[in-house]
Amino acid sequence: MTTTAEELLHRSSVIVGGGSGIGLAVTRAVADKSKSVSVIDLGSERPAALTELPGVSYLQGDVVDADGLARSFETIAEEGPIGNIFVSAGITLPVSIVDVNTAEAQRCLMINLMGSINTIKAALPHLADDASIVLCASVAAYTGGGFVGGSIYGASKGGVISLTRGAARELAPRRVRVNCVAPGPTTTGMVGDDPAVVERMTNTTLLERLASPDDIANGVLFLWSSAGSYLTGATLDINGGSHLG
Ligand SMILES: NC(=O)c1ccc[n+]([C@@H]2O[C@H](COP(=O)([O-])OP(=O)(O)OC[C@H]3O[C@@H](n4cnc5c(N)ncnc54)[C@H](O)[C@@H]3O)[C@@H](O)[C@H]2O)c1
Repeated sequence: MTTTAEELLHRSSVIVGGGSGIGLAVTRAVADKSKSVSVIDLGSERPAALTELPGVSYLQGDVVDADGLARSFETIAEEGPIGNIFVSAGITLPVSIVDVNTAEAQRCLMINLMGSINTIKAALPHLADDASIVLCASVAAYTGGGFVGGSIYGASKGGVISLTRGAARELAPRRVRVNCVAPGPTTTGMVGDDPAVVERMTNTTLLERLASPDDIANGVLFLWSSAGSYLTGATLDINGGSHLG
C-alpha cells in the first residue's frame, strides 16, 4: 500500500477557507505533497500565514458569491483536473434563537451551508473522476450548538451532514466521493482563548484537551487519500469524545 504522501503527489488540492485555523492546517499538511495546492479565502491580500508556503496559490473569494467561486475554480483548473477539495470556510454564531435576528441567521446559513453547496457546484465541471470532496460540519450538528455556536450554527452544520450524504449519492456515478469531518472544539480563532470557555470544553471532552487544527487536518487527509477510498457520504467525528453518537 502506498503512503498518503505518495498518493497526494499525483493530485491537485483546493482548500476553501485555507487562510487560517483548520483550513490552514490542511494547507500546510498538503503543501509539499500535492501536485498543486490552491487556497481560496476572503482577504483581498494573500494571508500572512501563507508566506511560508510560496508554492501555494492564493485566490480571493467569498463562498456566498457563486459566480466568483465558479471563476476561481475555472482559473485553478487551467492547471488540470482537481482531485481534492476541503471546504473549511465557515463562521460561528454565538447567539440563541431567542435573540438572533434574521440577517445574522441568514448570513450563518449562507456561509456555512450555501457556501458548501456553491463550492461543490463551482468545482463540479473541473473534478477528476475519482475526486474526493470533504466538507466541514461540527459536533454542534448533534448537540445543537452549546459551546461557541448557537442553534442556527448547529442547524447550518446539520445541513452540511445532510448535504454530504445527498451529494455522495448524486456524485457516486462519477466516482466522486463526498465526506465531511465533524470537529469538536478546536484551538482556532473561532473558539478563542477565554479560560473559562476553554476549561468548560476541556472538562466535557473525554480526552481532556481541545483538538489542534492538525488533529482535524489528519482526518481530512485520510478522507482524501486512498486509505479512505471506500468512504463516501460519511461523517468523520473528530471530537476527542466530547460527544458520543
Ligand atoms: N474551531 C472549532 O472549534 C470548530 C469546531 C467545529 C467545526 N468548526 C468548523 O471548522 C471550519 C474552520 O473553522 P476554524 O475554526 O478554522 O475558524 P477560522 O475562523 O480560523 O477559519 C475560518 C476560515 O474561513 C474563512 N471564511 C469565513 N467566511 C468565508 C467566506 N464567506 N468565504 C470564504 N472564506 C470564508 C475565514 O476567512 C477563515 O480563513 C468552520 O467551518 C467551522 O465552523 C470549527
